[in-house]
Amino acid sequence: MKSAIVLAAGKGTRMKSSLGKVMHPILHKPMIGYIIDTLKASGVERIIVVVGHEKEQIQAYLKDEVEYAIQEPQLGTGHAIMQVKQLAASCGQTILLCGDGPLIQKETIQKAFSINEKAACSIVSAVLNDGAQYGRIIRDQNNEIERIVEFKDCSAAQKKIKEINTGIFCFDNELLFKNLKHLKNENKQREYYVTDLVEILYRQKLKVNSFVIEDPQESMGINDRYDLACASKRMQAIINQAFMREGVSFIDPEHTYIDRDVQIGEDTTIYPNVHICKHSKIGKRVIIKPNSWIEDAQIGDDVVIENSVIKNSSVDAHAQVGPMAHIRDGCHIYQNTRVGNFVEFKNSQLGDDSKCAHLTYIGDCRVGKNVNIGCGVVSVNYDGVNKFQSTIKDGAFIGSNVNLIAPITVGENAVVAAGSTIDQNVEDGDMAIARGRQVNKKGKGLQYKTK
Ligand code: UD1
Ligand code: CA
Repeated sequence: MKSAIVLAAGKGTRMKSSLGKVMHPILHKPMIGYIIDTLKASGVERIIVVVGHEKEQIQAYLKDEVEYAIQEPQLGTGHAIMQVKQLAASCGQTILLCGDGPLIQKETIQKAFSINEKAACSIVSAVLNDGAQYGRIIRDQNNEIERIVEFKDCSAAQKKIKEINTGIFCFDNELLFKNLKHLKNENKQREYYVTDLVEILYRQKLKVNSFVIEDPQESMGINDRYDLACASKRMQAIINQAFMREGVSFIDPEHTYIDRDVQIGEDTTIYPNVHICKHSKIGKRVIIKPNSWIEDAQIGDDVVIENSVIKNSSVDAHAQVGPMAHIRDGCHIYQNTRVGNFVEFKNSQLGDDSKCAHLTYIGDCRVGKNVNIGCGVVSVNYDGVNKFQSTIKDGAFIGSNVNLIAPITVGENAVVAAGSTIDQNVEDGDMAIARGRQVNKKGKGLQYKTK
């Protein structure tokens, strides 16, 4: 059996945050979420997350997607594994990952399992110009890994070693649990280090295998906000590259922000400074122009979006949105529609072929097909206490600068004259005008200006 232990009980002091370290988001997703997704994609059957600090946050997020072991207090990475009682009697192989290393890729996990088939333990190492605070890999005369020395316990000479411990290990599960009892906390941090198991196994003449990771960034551990920003940049590059390989065009991928769980169809083009977030799904041949924010939205094929915000809503094929439109909270914008400049839609529908092109607020409104909503229309949906619904039926024409005081229904093919404030229903085919009559006073204008 293939199992995984993810260490996530530490405090993450260097983040200086009330949010648990592994819950810090990269492109709107907690870093531990990436690790769990990758483990699942690698074919791991059991995942145990060791939690302690801020465990409620982690458990509320991962729910029953994984199993948990509680480590309280946190006495080191080796001590964390001692808490994973549910694996103590298992056989097979167990991979160990740190919850603060979200860039790990499935190929690396699979490779660690495969090189460990005939070994007691396999280590994924990295070669860095500056080994920073990572544990150093110490090799014997035969170039076999003999032990790992934590940075804080390193001599000046050991600090110069460029091969470091990524924190990713694969163990024969029985040997892992059998040898935990030999761990001691005789080190600078007074912690039980999992890394000391390497020397314990080596001294028993058991096989310790290893490979050097190709891209050291993949195994980077996030300890502070600077690391978090670097990892975000790398994750962004990985996600955007994958989309480009699937036929999505980016004008400037370095300045385009797409979350991992987003889907995008072929021949879509994305301009700079676009953010596509959470579980959004974008169709084919969509054009998304600069400065758009799309969150949990479904966008159909051939839609054009310009400098707009769309949240928790769907926009169907061939619609045109923006510039500066705001579509939010459960809207459904149907096909061939237009939601134009400075138009806000909230919890509303806009039927096929309807248009609402300028300076308008539509809230809690069902708008039918082939409706034209003029410039500066306001659905007056709130009386200060309650919200009310309105309906504008197929083919209706709402003139410019109209207020529709909800609840109200405008019938099929009805017309509302410009400048009207409407508080009574308009029947199918009728015309409503509700405004003061105009009076023209002969010569009064000139008289006023010359007074
Ligand atoms: C660890 C490794 C180091 C390696 C580095 C790679 C050890 C002793 N050191 O160091 O060799 O180069 O990762 O990033 O393993 N954790 C617990 N319980 C604890 C302590 C830590 O669950 O009692 C968790 C933390 O939440 C974190 C992970 O283990 O997710 C690593 O802990 P951290 O303190 O960041 O270890 P490093 O000093 O980075
Ligand atoms: Ca770390």
